[in-house]
Amino acid sequence: MNRPPRPWRSPSRLIRGCWQLSRGHGPGWSRDLAFAALDAAAARPGPLVLDCADIYVGVEKLLGEWIASRGDAAGRVVVHTKFVPDLGVLDGVDRGYMRRIVQRSRRRLGVNALDLVQFHWWDLAVPGWVQAAEWLAELREAGLIRQVGVTNFDQRSLHVLLDAGIPVVSNQVQLSLLDRRPLDGLAEMCLERGVTLLCYGTLAGGLLTNGPSRESRSLDKYRAIVGEVGGPLVLERGRAALEEIAVREGATMADVAVAYALSRPAAGAAIVGLSRRGLAPDPRAVTLTPANIARLEAAVPGTVPGSVYEAERDRAGPHGRIMRYDLNRDGDARRA
Ligand SMILES: NC(=O)c1ccc[n+]([C@@H]2O[C@H](COP(=O)([O-])OP(=O)(O)OC[C@H]3O[C@@H](n4cnc5c(N)ncnc54)[C@H](OP(=O)(O)O)[C@@H]3O)[C@@H](O)[C@H]2O)c1
Repeated sequence: MNRPPRPWRSPSRLIRGCWQLSRGHGPGWSRDLAFAALDAAAARPGPLVLDCADIYVGVEKLLGEWIASRGDAAGRVVVHTKFVPDLGVLDGVDRGYMRRIVQRSRRRLGVNALDLVQFHWWDLAVPGWVQAAEWLAELREAGLIRQVGVTNFDQRSLHVLLDAGIPVVSNQVQLSLLDRRPLDGLAEMCLERGVTLLCYGTLAGGLLTNGPSRESRSLDKYRAIVGEVGGPLVLERGRAALEEIAVREGATMADVAVAYALSRPAAGAAIVGLSRRGLAPDPRAVTLTPANIARLEAAVPGTVPGSVYEAERDRAGPHGRIMRYDLNRDGDARRA
């Protein structure tokens, strides 16, 4: 299995996240609102890149239906999905299971080949993840997948996959002003080895903006992150610094928050969740100077302890407790 000759790049620096559209993420989304948000995102110039997952309940199917109903826009839409086997089946994942999940994603999305499949493994202490990634790479060679990525892999585990020859092009991780864990070694290694970081959590679910419109699972997730970096007072300082720069640059706080993530080494794109209000940051609105970056980092001096996703892997801890580990069971994952 050969590595791609040049680092892969997302066709857009802004990827629209579709977790928000899934059943259970939060109230306020209907099918009509989801289609309207997708139409608004598609109306912006350039390719539309969407991020979803096999475990975002109902979303791959919804995107497939939206794409089918918008024939003219379909050519400009790229969909990144994920392969997230349930925690309870990790020790039984085999080649056939992986093929079935990938076939199910292709069917739901209505595509011949999945643009990017991002591999997640809930518990790295359960063996089998290198083998599973190899099987995913085989599906790429068979033409069912265009690119293989990973999500929430720390430096050590990504290293293992790359050394095993898995052609990983991207690692989707939380990277924001509040969560700078990827900057402690992972980003540098990604630069060296040609892996692109796709950054989620850049707006902390809306906490790093003028405000989210409603409660959501994103807010639960990022409130726990705020707890790690010093609590509401530190969040307020971070928001004030974002606002100060935004006002000076004629941009929005969301523009500045996204610019911060994109200014970090190896960061190829920011994944920003679709907004019920049709909001979208402009990734080209601001180029942060080193002084601005220093100002932001001084406002939030600490970050989440440990390596990438380490705190989340503690299932009894404040991050792990709020996650759902069995969403692939929903629907027809086993038989598909
Ligand atoms: N791999 C993983 O483990 C993982 C984990 C989490 C997320 N993700 C991915 O990342 C995506 C982003 O989700 P997230 O949870 O990190 O949320 P986020 O992108 O930090 O926050 C997005 C939310 O911020 C609000 N918002 C406020 N001001 C905004 C503005 N100016 N522009 C745009 N949005 C604004 C919007 O909600 P309103 O509706 O209130 O406007 C929007 O839904 C997900 O959809 C998913 O694809 C991946």
